[in-house]
Amino acid sequence: MSLFITFEGIEGCGKTTQINHLTSYLERIHKPLLVTREPGGTEVGEKIRQILLSSENDRIDPMAELLLYAASRVQHYREVISSALAQGKIVLCDRFADATLAYQGYGRGLDLEWIEKIHSQTMANVRPNLTFLLDLPVEEGLKRAFKRMENQTNKEDRFEKEALDFHRRVREGYLVLAKRDPKRIIILDGLKDEQTLHREIISHLPEGLRG
Ligand code: TMP
Repeated sequence: MSLFITFEGIEGCGKTTQINHLTSYLERIHKPLLVTREPGGTEVGEKIRQILLSSENDRIDPMAELLLYAASRVQHYREVISSALAQGKIVLCDRFADATLAYQGYGRGLDLEWIEKIHSQTMANVRPNLTFLLDLPVEEGLKRAFKRMENQTNKEDRFEKEALDFHRRVREGYLVLAKRDPKRIIILDGLKDEQTLHREIISHLPEGLRG
């Protein structure tokens, strides 16, 4: 049974940690799996990621930024995700279209309907089956994100450097999206400890995957 699961949240929300826990869990119960991320997930997409996340590129126009995320997604979905789903795999994706609504829409203030329109035109409006939104205060998320970056050599820090207000709008945007689609988007309290969150995530999986 194929299943498309995405993880969302502000910087430092802990989604990568939870993806790692879920990956180990699904591997233990022998489920065919693809773990991937956006922007990125393909050779072309990883090049786009470098452009988007380097703080050297702080002059990217918001509209150009939006289109680059959309370009990375089209490539990713057509090259990788759709065939994995067709093969019956479970796809775990670190961010997807909700991130564009939250960051470019609510964060940057680009027109939400326009963003939806790009998605429906380029991606036939594909939605994940299930989305985990790790929610936490922006101050806490950014503290964690900056700490993590101290140990990184390739600095993907263009977004971390945005003002606090930007991150607050992104967080609020995600919460609005979750309220509109509560069956798909599950809000989790990102302040809870890793293991508790992992158990909560498992409890929301379809029955056959709950172990
Ligand atoms: P990551 O740090 O979680 O890998 O995400 C990369 C950054 O890209 C993060 O700051 C959020 C941003 N982003 C957008 O602004 N729009 C999008 O559509 C996606 C997928 C990510």
